[in-house]
Amino acid sequence: MSKTAVYAGSFDPITNGHLNIIRRAAKMYDSLTVAVIVNVSKRPFFSIEERVDIIKKVTADIPNVKVECFSGLLADYVNANRFSVVIRGLRATSDFENEIQMAQMNARLYTEGTETVFLMTDPRYSFISSSMIKEVATLGGSVTGLVDEYTESIIKTKIKG
Ligand code: COA
Repeated sequence: MSKTAVYAGSFDPITNGHLNIIRRAAKMYDSLTVAVIVNVSKRPFFSIEERVDIIKKVTADIPNVKVECFSGLLADYVNANRFSVVIRGLRATSDFENEIQMAQMNARLYTEGTETVFLMTDPRYSFISSSMIKEVATLGGSVTGLVDEYTESIIKTKIKG
């Protein structure tokens, strides 16, 4: 049976930390879907279409990765698509508390025995978040090396615009 994984998030924007998780997870499963949430509680910097487009471009060289968007409960989306695994990245111990709560709540909601699998974030990226990237870039700081070159150029264009 093929093992399908999903990696969900806001990706506003996708960082090299996310990309590192995607590359590693894609090697572990037959297919990996990067699922961008249409997040009502966060005011996005990039529209959902822009985020999906950026992720498609920066993952274009990974053949078993596809990009989709979803809204509502992650568990509903996971059940509807019968994913075997939900990937989460852990950056620091501070992520753990929230992650275990989410994983345990979701475990109650999954109907197909889906497992949550945690990958340790590459230490080069363990201090970054999408918000930090946006703040530094908006205030004129360099985010080179923390996001893909293409993403960096799109951020710059957005800020200028
Ligand atoms: N490298 C760099 N940054 C990372 C990272 C990594 N490996 N992993 C996470 N981050 C950053 C993200 O960019 C994000 O930054 P931001 O808050 O500045 O935008 C932050 O860490 C938090 O990431 P994450 O916990 O993945 O949040 P998210 O908003 O990207 O996605 C969902 C969270 C979508 C998975 C979650 O909100 C969800 O499931 N929502 C659906 C509703 C639902 O089902 N609710 C019930 C849950 S039990």
